Amino acid sequence: MEELKSIQWFPGHMTRTKRQIEAQLKLIDAVAILLDARIPYSSCNPDLRSIINNKPRMVVLNKSDMADPNETKKWLNTFRENHISAVSLDCKTGKGINTFIPAVKGLLSDKIQSWKEKGMAGRTIKVMVVGIPNVGKSSFINRMAKQNRARTEDRPGVTRGNQWFTIGKGFDLLDTPGVLWPKFDDKLVGEKLAYIGSVKDDILDTEHLAGRLLEYLRDNNCQQLCARYRMEPNEIAELQGYEILELVGKRRGMLISGGEINTERAAATVLDEFRNATLGRITLDRAEEYPYVKI
Ligand code: G4P
Repeated sequence: MEELKSIQWFPGHMTRTKRQIEAQLKLIDAVAILLDARIPYSSCNPDLRSIINNKPRMVVLNKSDMADPNETKKWLNTFRENHISAVSLDCKTGKGINTFIPAVKGLLSDKIQSWKEKGMAGRTIKVMVVGIPNVGKSSFINRMAKQNRARTEDRPGVTRGNQWFTIGKGFDLLDTPGVLWPKFDDKLVGEKLAYIGSVKDDILDTEHLAGRLLEYLRDNNCQQLCARYRMEPNEIAELQGYEILELVGKRRGMLISGGEINTERAAATVLDEFRNATLGRITLDRAEEYPYVKI
């Protein structure tokens, strides 16, 4: 996508983030990698694996309230088949949030056992939360803190510096140090990040973006798309994205003076309705396309 070139890859920022994450690695027991359940592949920074080296890691599929539940199940299976511990949850309603701490304890069971043997039972478990911007890291940390507040007594939420959070007795979270940019240089990955709103719209041509999204949905989620905008699959089968956008504008009565269709408004509507899942719970990265995930 032409427009994404201007925000491609910031090697300088990434080197700094890499250093910042590496500096904290010795202080933590595990890494929780937050991914967007709608794009588990595209929301994963591919350099993360080398940055976190051999620290125990697990995947948290966040925003699962907006993803296709069947696809989320498939993704969880895929991760587990690849020996990666994974949970799905959403920070909006809190659904699934209680699975996180047990999953971390499962991941670290050997370590916890050895602490017990050394007389250090109950030692604080420290987990670094990493993820690309907007994946929900602050929401996740806030949710976890709220959910476990009863057990934190009157200890303040923020314990050591501004990035450490005590979320429960014996459990601390560290927010990503630095900014972990996604990888934009794969065109499709860049587009999917833009569809979900991870890329600021003011640097994108929203009509072009909405057109591409409409083509994608026509090819992959035709039923949901047609139901939402009162279109027939055969009516849009041969259309270009921009033509589908015009049709959406027409069906929604989005006209400007002279009877012309307001495609700018139609684009904003399509993007909004996709991003807040009014269009349905849609997963853009399908698990069967990525059977061998490595994290
Ligand atoms: P970050 O720290 O990783 O950058 O992400 P942050 O928590 O700020 O979340 C980014 C946006 O995603 C926020 O919306 C947040 O409410 C939303 N979000 C986070 N987790 C979930 C989830 O599980 N489900 C849904 N549906 N949304 C989630 P925002 O529009 O930027 O702000 P606001 O709506 O909270 O005001």
